[in-house]
Amino acid sequence: MSKIILIATDKPFAKEAVDMIKAIVDKTPGYELKLLEKYTEQSQLIEAAKEADAMIVRSDKATKEVTDAGDRLRVIVRAGAGYDNIDLEAAKAKGIVAMNTPGQNSNAVAELAIGMMIYMARGKFNGKSGSELKGKTLGIHAYGNVGRYVATIAKGFGMDIYAFDPFIRDEDISKDGVKVVHSVEELYSKCQYVSVHIPANEKTKKSIHKGLLESMPKNAVLVNTARKEVICEEGLKMIFEQRPDFKYLSDIAPDCAEELNEKYADRVYFTPKKMGAQTEEANINAGIAAVEQIIAYFEKGDTKFQVNK
Ligand code: 3PG
Repeated sequence: MSKIILIATDKPFAKEAVDMIKAIVDKTPGYELKLLEKYTEQSQLIEAAKEADAMIVRSDKATKEVTDAGDRLRVIVRAGAGYDNIDLEAAKAKGIVAMNTPGQNSNAVAELAIGMMIYMARGKFNGKSGSELKGKTLGIHAYGNVGRYVATIAKGFGMDIYAFDPFIRDEDISKDGVKVVHSVEELYSKCQYVSVHIPANEKTKKSIHKGLLESMPKNAVLVNTARKEVICEEGLKMIFEQRPDFKYLSDIAPDCAEELNEKYADRVYFTPKKMGAQTEEANINAGIAAVEQIIAYFEKGDTKFQVNK
């Protein structure tokens, strides 16, 4: 009996990516591909999990209900970086390996972060006089895969780049021509632009608070392509009241998006739907990595990218 690999994506991959994943599955004996795209109810995901041996998800919620339903389910791969959408403990309790595909969609996210900076610096392309990124300070909050790509692109724009990441050695940051700072306070107080790349977990949720935003230099711009949960929204709203020079750009609209859009339309921008990783290239890279990791797990027991050990 073939093993069923289910692609469960509320926000589908580009068709080219699905075709390439399918081609890999078709040429590998013993596997079959099933697709659940653009589903509207969580119950559809739970139902589909029942017959799957492996699942590829994006930001889809792989909750305990999903893992509990998946009696044959052995592996879930998050085609992307952040795995805060997977109940890791529930998966572990059922012996399900959870993995991500780090780095595979990072360039797409970095390009969006820089794209949003330009969009705002040029007054959302309103034809009036704006400003340039060249010469401005940019703080990279976490120097992982996305942060690194942001630094590379920003260097091309002539930005003055700083990074804070307690998990990365100073020399691995400074070799890229990026200045190292050793506290989040220093990063925010030094940099006019801050690009956020931290994961959402119990330690980081609401960690970007009013005090940090208050300390940012004049004409501060906060750019968030990570997760909305890492921002303290009460603090954010207060900053908007206090600072007429503060701007917020995010790929994950905050819960208070409507209020901010109404009150400060020219100082905020939120994408209509999270789209940092929505490129054909990112979908192909992450999708192929996901299916290859699944096959390597079943064939060789490879757990290199497991995140719930
Ligand atoms: C990630 O964690 O990889 C990004 O946030 C992309 O998420 P998405 O696959 O839901 O677009």
